[in-house]
Amino acid sequence: MQIESDPIVRLAVVSDIHAYTSHERSTDSIVNYAGGPRVSNPLSDLIECTDRLGLTADVLVCAGDICNKADVSGLEHAWADLHHLKRKLSASQIVATCGNHDLDSRHLGDETDPDPKGTMLSLVPSFPFDCADLTNKFWSRNYAIVVLPCGAVMVSLNTSAYHGGKQEEILHGRVSKRTIAALAQELACHKGAPAHILVCHHHPLPLSQAHTNDREFMREGQSLLDALVNATGSSWLIVHGHRHQPRLLSGATESNYVPFVFGAGSLGARMPGVSNQCHIVTIFRSSDSQFSSIVGAVETLTWTDSNGWQPATGSNGLPSLCGFGYRGQIPTLAREIATLVGNAFLPIHQIRKDFPSVNFLTPVAMEDLENELDLLGVAFMRDRQSQVVQIGKKAQHG
Ligand SMILES: [Fe+2]
Repeated sequence: MQIESDPIVRLAVVSDIHAYTSHERSTDSIVNYAGGPRVSNPLSDLIECTDRLGLTADVLVCAGDICNKADVSGLEHAWADLHHLKRKLSASQIVATCGNHDLDSRHLGDETDPDPKGTMLSLVPSFPFDCADLTNKFWSRNYAIVVLPCGAVMVSLNTSAYHGGKQEEILHGRVSKRTIAALAQELACHKGAPAHILVCHHHPLPLSQAHTNDREFMREGQSLLDALVNATGSSWLIVHGHRHQPRLLSGATESNYVPFVFGAGSLGARMPGVSNQCHIVTIFRSSDSQFSSIVGAVETLTWTDSNGWQPATGSNGLPSLCGFGYRGQIPTLAREIATLVGNAFLPIHQIRKDFPSVNFLTPVAMEDLENELDLLGVAFMRDRQSQVVQIGKKAQHG
């Protein structure tokens, strides 16, 4: 299998922090800075546990909604702590975007001085980039392009750029046709980069399944995905936030290049039945025809009040390990694994070593693999935390 052993880049992904200090914003968020900068909350806990969990990254990604309902003090505290987290991760930079909650588009502040993005423009260090030219580009053109030291290209896109204008705009995200055209034209100079990654807040495709009435997605999102892959002739990773429900899917395009759409979990939104999660995404380059040009391994951590940050368990979010980029046939992979397993039981880490494809399956593709193995008489065996620990021949009855 031709996947380079050294990763191109490792991203730490946090999103939808929803930090606040004012009590009335506490009903739907758990990231409380009312006690000052040293209080315990999921963001400060993540800073504290980087050493214990061995977390490192090249880039800290934040996909917006840093504060809750335009809470100025919450925004300032969380932005400062994101820089603290960047240093703890040994990351070289932050690539962030703003979310609908970061803009005072409902004019909750001084109504005699309506200024939806004013607080963001006043942040120190400057938002979203330290570099003044990049920051000015982001606010004037709604996007900015960063080339990392490894050569990977990252785009920060503002999908809340029209919030504060036409009233109905606050109900959804948007990327305009002009922005797509300008971005695609500029990206033509970045063909051949080892990886292409876009960070935005709103999801580029409507949610499906239980969210059939989803109307909050980014307008022109599909056009954006088409333009990205066409501009560079490569697969992309799109990292977004907003819905607080982690998910990982292969987006549709007319070409063979894939826009992988990664909906990050929320660090701080209070949502019954949905875990607060963050992620480490390690991206590799592949030249194997069974994989896309980039593949990624996604490690996920879940925060709970009682245990802090731990590798994810359970089913309310992404599992502790998943990925993206395998483009081969699941039934064929299942047959190969079943042949290796035979009548034995093999630990999952052995399966992942012998079949690295397993590391680059989305959670749903992993379910497909489990179903195919089941048809072949081979089962996944889980521990009490629902983690797969072994794969082996099912017991025969009768
Ligand atoms: Fe949010």
